[in-house]
Amino acid sequence: MNILNNISLKANNTFGIDCKVKNFVSIRNEKDIKVLYKSDITLNSKSIILGEGSNVLFVGDFDGLVIHNEIKGYNIIESNNDFIIIEAGAGEKWHDFVSLSINNGYSGLENLALIPGTVGSAAIQNIGAYGVEQNEFIDSVYGFNIEKHIFQRIYKINCNYGYRDSIFKNELKDKFIISSVRYTLSKSPVVNYNYKDIINLFKEFNITNPTPIDIFKAVISIRNEKLPDWRQLGNSGSFFKNPIVSKKVIVDIKSKFPDIPVFPQTNNLFKLSAAWMIEQTGWKGFRVGDAGVYEKHALILVNHGNASGESIFQLSMDIRKSVKLKFNVELEPEVLIISN
Ligand code: FAD
Ligand code: EPU
Repeated sequence: MNILNNISLKANNTFGIDCKVKNFVSIRNEKDIKVLYKSDITLNSKSIILGEGSNVLFVGDFDGLVIHNEIKGYNIIESNNDFIIIEAGAGEKWHDFVSLSINNGYSGLENLALIPGTVGSAAIQNIGAYGVEQNEFIDSVYGFNIEKHIFQRIYKINCNYGYRDSIFKNELKDKFIISSVRYTLSKSPVVNYNYKDIINLFKEFNITNPTPIDIFKAVISIRNEKLPDWRQLGNSGSFFKNPIVSKKVIVDIKSKFPDIPVFPQTNNLFKLSAAWMIEQTGWKGFRVGDAGVYEKHALILVNHGNASGESIFQLSMDIRKSVKLKFNVELEPEVLIISN
């Protein structure tokens, strides 16, 4: 394994932050993980696993080891008339996996088309979009338990999935390297198009009986319209999570802001729109130096060119403060903030 020293991470994070890392290594198979964790480098420095770097913000240089996951490949684990279980290497690009599934007639993941990042991180973050979360299709996650020094399979039921949440962000945070993930996909079309944007698009094009491919294309078109291409304008998608609050908070907030969008969840909880609150506090399109808020979507912080991680972090703190002041709601970053 080739360990690189003092390299820039600009190409390894979609914010395009030009920071340096002390040590950088790529892993391409499970053997690489074993070798790495027998070596001194993992004993002597803090480390972080990186996929495509589309959900991280580096605030300054990182004085540790970045382990870049490049474990690729697909395996069919089980296949019958109704469903297929496919195993994908954690370093496969998520959108490539979705495309491969849909092109082979396996449905379920089409609402999650075009989300940047890798398969491994999708299983950590429990990515979601347009009415679907990846945990609806997951079978199990396989990887290396750093504390126990063994490979383990963790079935979905033990992954504790929630909104942008899982065991890998809690009990197993920094303790587990995902090497592959298994998904169960349907061989007959299963469609989900309850999201407002998809419904509107189908109405516009008079699509009354959509297929999974129609949904795949619709999601790509909506995302291309709404979200910035990180290759042209650095970003990490939604910077904050949408806050989940109690009925009491809703009653209070609605009395002061009757137009606030509210999305009912299970267990008498409600989701508020972080984008709406940020827009209402006047931040949409704001820019300070090269750090800014996307002009077409208030939940997306952007790097107009040479913004530092610190400047984007500072902007995020200012936004949090003013949302708290106006709505008495605490915004929690969805993006992982990495500092020494
Ligand atoms: P990274 O940013 O590289 O890593 C994220 C976290 O996972 C880090 O903590 C890292 O240490 C950990 N990690 C990564 N790989 C492994 C591994 N193999 N084992 C253990 N830990 C690991 N997200 C959504 O949910 N829905 C969206 O609609 C969405 N839209 C987006 C749009 C844009 C334009 C962008 C830039 C981002 C968007 N995101 C969205 C966020 C992001 O794409 C997802 O969170 C994605 O899953 C991150 O994947 P990654 O490989 O880039 O992860
Ligand atoms: N809105 C505004 N101003 C804006 C943008 C949106 O007021 O500038 C309001 C509108 O009322 C709109 C509502 O916010 O109806 C919701 O907007 P949108 O449909 O764009 O969804 P979102 O809540 O901003 C979430 C996810 C996205 C995911 C979309 C689509 C989170 C934190 N974000 O965004 O995921 O793609 O729904 O399902 O849950 C990500 O996680 O990085 C991400 C991009």
